[in-house]
Amino acid sequence: MPQTFQQLRLDLAAALAGFLEPEEAHAEAGLWFEDGLGCSRSWMAVHQGGLVPPEVVTQVEVWLQRRRTGEPWAYILGWTLFRDRRFKVSPATLIPRPETELLVEAALDIGKRLNVGRCVDVGTGSGIIAVSLALETNWEVSASDLSPGALAVARENAETLGARITFHEGSLLDPVPEPLELVVANLPYVDPADQPGLQRELAFEPASALFAPERGLALSQALLAQARERRAPACLLEIGAGQGGELCRRALGLGWSKAMIHQDFAGHDRILVALR
Ligand SMILES: C[S@@+](CC[C@H](N)C(=O)[O-])C[C@H]1O[C@@H](n2cnc3c(N)ncnc32)[C@H](O)[C@@H]1O
Repeated sequence: MPQTFQQLRLDLAAALAGFLEPEEAHAEAGLWFEDGLGCSRSWMAVHQGGLVPPEVVTQVEVWLQRRRTGEPWAYILGWTLFRDRRFKVSPATLIPRPETELLVEAALDIGKRLNVGRCVDVGTGSGIIAVSLALETNWEVSASDLSPGALAVARENAETLGARITFHEGSLLDPVPEPLELVVANLPYVDPADQPGLQRELAFEPASALFAPERGLALSQALLAQARERRAPACLLEIGAGQGGELCRRALGLGWSKAMIHQDFAGHDRILVALR
């Protein structure tokens, strides 16, 4: 039987509620309509009683089949929003998280206070941090990543959004030339031992973007050491909940003169600021 847009939206929310919490399912159905089908709320207010073309029903069914396997909506859609800008994402990149906005805010704040002229985003993934900083400051911005697939997506995002960034392929600061000023990174920080209990959606993201040895601390420690050795004035890291105390001690032990933690909206350790 032909379906109206309103009925399709209700059926979709019910189908999503088969594997999501009801509130999440309702919100995600809204995203599918707005971002996936281009049916905004105002459009729906006028057309919700209209009949859905069969190809749209088929499209939603195909998306639903993929989503039921646990594939995140951002990969199905191919993009997500970060600081109100649209970033392409692919299975080669982590899906940007809202907490990372706190890292960008901290970088803007510290960078302005220290009056820096350049900044590097280490482990750039889809390029969200580097692109945001390039578009919101007049700093010279560079970015590095180990993954050629992630760098290809980051380059595309920089070009689409009109951000001038120099990209380097390689580990941490190895490929980044002197002089270093602000070093910013959201590197992998999840403890591999936590993997069995994680949301099934995470299995679709690259393991190399999520997990770090030594209870998730190894890459943060390595970057703090490298940035200190190369005399960067500041190093800002997104970190895991509960990693703050240990990483502050390690940063001070590496010769940083100050190490501070910012917490996220849920009260978890989230950003480490190390100052020379
Ligand atoms: C947690 S993701 C963050 C991506 C992006 N910065 C964001 O906030 O959405 C970590 C990124 O670090 C990269 N990475 C992992 N190990 C690295 C290393 N040793 N050197 C440089 N990048 C690395 C991964 O490929 C991945 O793109």
